[in-house]
Amino acid sequence: MITVRDFQSGDEAATFPVFFSAVHEVASAHYSPEVIEAWAPRDTDPQRWAERIQGIQPFVALREGDIVGYADLQDSGYIDHFFVSARAQRIGVATALMARIHASAKERGIEQLFSDVSLSAQGFYQRCGFSLQEQQVFFFRGQAMRNARMEKRLDRRG
Ligand SMILES: CC(C)(COP(=O)(O)OP(=O)(O)OC[C@H]1O[C@@H](n2cnc3c(N)ncnc32)[C@H](O)[C@@H]1OP(=O)(O)O)[C@@H](O)C(=O)NCCC(=O)NCCS
Repeated sequence: MITVRDFQSGDEAATFPVFFSAVHEVASAHYSPEVIEAWAPRDTDPQRWAERIQGIQPFVALREGDIVGYADLQDSGYIDHFFVSARAQRIGVATALMARIHASAKERGIEQLFSDVSLSAQGFYQRCGFSLQEQQVFFFRGQAMRNARMEKRLDRRG
């Protein structure tokens, strides 16, 4: 069973393997090894990572007590991170996180969701009702990475 809860202090370290495996083992199907390494460097400093995660305050998804996915929702409606562990793909983890994002948006009066979505997640976002606004090129440590701005207008009665 998958459950989703708010971020708690102490979750930071467990989100890194989720991010790392999602990028290196899943998104790697769509990007070069150079882009993948620039996106999720092996030598990421744990303290800087912890600060990054504390900054976005994500929801975390758990399976049997382990964090297997996380995703955030900023007050602007922006989704910054959305990652599911390579070992927990296609079992509904992202769907559970996206449902929580929608519930939170409703509670907070957010009328539009938007994100810069990797090639590997565009199918999922589309299925969740997002539409593609613009193809973009993003630079990570000098590596050009293709992604797309995707948006979803929410029905306020939703
Ligand atoms: C995209 C991602 C978040 C989806 O996570 P997930 O937990 O496997 O997704 P779910 O199991 O909830 O999938 C629900 C549905 O979304 C769609 N979907 C999910 N992944 C998909 C993919 N790679 N391509 C097309 N459709 C996809 C399918 O319709 C799926 O239903 P199905 O399994 O019954 O066919 C995950 O693959 C991931 O972490 N990718 C790599 C990291 C990344 O690119 N993150 C986004 C950064 S912007």
